[in-house]
Amino acid sequence: MKIYKVKNYEELSRKAANIIAAQVIMKPDCVLGLATGSSPIGTYDNLTAMYESGDLDFSQVTTVNLDEYKGLDASNDQSYRYFMNKHLFSRINIPMEHTYVPDGTVADSDEACAAYNETLHKAGPADLQLLGLGHDGHIGFNEPADHFADETHCVDLTEVTIQANKRFFASEADVPRQAYTMGVGTIMRAKTVLVIVSGEDKAEILNQVINGPVTPQVPASILQFHSNAIIVADEAALSKTDL
Ligand code: F6R
Repeated sequence: MKIYKVKNYEELSRKAANIIAAQVIMKPDCVLGLATGSSPIGTYDNLTAMYESGDLDFSQVTTVNLDEYKGLDASNDQSYRYFMNKHLFSRINIPMEHTYVPDGTVADSDEACAAYNETLHKAGPADLQLLGLGHDGHIGFNEPADHFADETHCVDLTEVTIQANKRFFASEADVPRQAYTMGVGTIMRAKTVLVIVSGEDKAEILNQVINGPVTPQVPASILQFHSNAIIVADEAALSKTDL
């Protein structure tokens, strides 16, 4: 794993956006795997600024997002589709029909996951997959488990994740208990994986991801086996890791 240590969230966001920008410039019709949450917001702001200054063109890019809450539709401001439209897609020149997020409104999990797998197969492996890191080591919504899931599946969110994500909802009871997520196998087939991690609260788990054993109990640890995994983390997030 290649690890870039940066000062703070602002620097992290600039560095991550530069790496993604390089990908888009090198291959204008690339497939970008994207993430939601707090970590990538600054990255998306920087990408938007590069688009606005005329340095980036997204007209040929395809995006595939990691996950979506089961039961939420695009008009729900807590849905990941809403998040992506707000923080990135509506601000750049990507055609909306090139942007894919699992469909949270499909009640039948098998049907929803099969449909998203078909989308992912058609798009092909992501050229670059952006990831945040959960406090329990999750990537996408691949929670600690006894095995690594290969493709898109429906997951029960863990208590740690529900507690971490309730800040976005009116109350804890409103946090959906299930989500559709891309599998670890699909993430591992991305040609480049870019993980962004910020803050002291992620320091312990980030150290396990980098230096601990590869185990489905810490899903992101499998990235140790990826041939082109890049971690951009700030000083606080790397405060428990010897580099
Ligand atoms: C989001 C996702 C999650 C987050 C992770 C970190 O699409 O798949 O794995 O990346 O929960 O979230 P933040 O960035 O909010 O700390």
